[in-house]
Amino acid sequence: MTRSLAGRRPIWRSPSITLGLTVAVAAAVGCSSPRDGAVPDDRRQATNPMTNRPVINIAHRGASAYAPEHTFASWDLALEMNADYLEQDLQMTADGVLVVMHDDTLDRTARGPEQHCSGPVIERTLAELENCDAGSWFNEEHRDRVRPEFEELRIPTLEAVFERYAGRARFYIETKNPAAAPGMEEELLRLLHAFDLVPAALDDHTVILQSFSPASLMKLRDLEPTLPRVQLAPWGETTVSIRAQLDEVATYAQGLGPHYSDVNTALLDDAHELGLMVHPYTVDAPEEMRRLIEIGIDGMFTNVPDVLGALER
Ligand code: G3P
Ligand code: CA
Repeated sequence: MTRSLAGRRPIWRSPSITLGLTVAVAAAVGCSSPRDGAVPDDRRQATNPMTNRPVINIAHRGASAYAPEHTFASWDLALEMNADYLEQDLQMTADGVLVVMHDDTLDRTARGPEQHCSGPVIERTLAELENCDAGSWFNEEHRDRVRPEFEELRIPTLEAVFERYAGRARFYIETKNPAAAPGMEEELLRLLHAFDLVPAALDDHTVILQSFSPASLMKLRDLEPTLPRVQLAPWGETTVSIRAQLDEVATYAQGLGPHYSDVNTALLDDAHELGLMVHPYTVDAPEEMRRLIEIGIDGMFTNVPDVLGALER
C-alpha cells in the first residue's frame, strides 16, 4: 500500500494526545481492537429482523455528538464505539486539496485568523487552513462537553484520514458540492488508489461513495465502476417523489440515503426490490432507530454510534 504521498504535513499536531473521552458511552463501547491490515468485523450490532443481517452503523461526521465533527477525535471515538463506517464530507481547497468538512464555508467550524479561517473553503489554500482549529467551535457550543484538547484539532485532509485509518476502518465518503469543485472525483479516486482502497468488485464495501449529485455518482461510476455508490435524497423530498426516482437511481447506484422521516415500508420494499440498500440520515433517537430496524433498514447514519450499537435485539 502506498502511504507516502507528496510531503504534506500531518495536521494532527499532537498525535500522542489521548482523548480519553469519558462521555456517557463507556457501557456501549465494547472496544474491539482492529487487526493489522484488516477492518474489524466482530462488532456488536443490531440485527435486521427480516434479513438477519447486521444494521450498518455509520458514524455521521464521526461520533459527532461527543467530539468536533470531522476530526480525528470524532473518528477515533467512533471506532471505539464500534461504528462500522466513518463518514467524510469532502470540500476542495483553492490549491486542489481535498479536506474533510461539512460546510462549504469555514465560518461555523473553523477558528483562527479571519483572513485564513473564514469564507468559502474553495477560496483558501491548504496552507491557510493549517492556521485554523476545528474544535473550538464545539467547546463554544457544547458547554457540557468542553475538552481543552479539542482546540488543538485541525481540519483534516482526506489523505491524512487515509494515513490514519486505512486498513482499520471503513469509509463512507460524500462528494459535497462537486459542481463547484471540478476535479473532486478524480482527486478522490487518486487518493483511493494511492491507499489501495479501490476494490476489485462492487461487493467489497470497505469504501462507499455518496452524493446528493447524480452527476457526481455517474462520473464516479464511469471512472471507477467497482466502488459502491449511494444516492442521497435531500430533506424536503417526499417519500412518493423518492420512490418515483428509484428506477433511475438503480441504474447507477447501489444504495439510497434518504432523510429518515421519508423512510417507510413502501419505500424500503421498492428500494430492496431494485437491489438498493437503504441508509437514512441522521438518526439519533433510539425510538426512531428501533422503528427503522423493525421495518427492515440496512443501516443508518448517526451522531451517536454508541446508542445504535447498544440496541441489541
Ligand atoms: O451523507 C448523509 C448525510 O450526512 C447527508 O447530510 O448534510 O449531514 O451531509 P449532511
Ligand atoms: Ca454527509
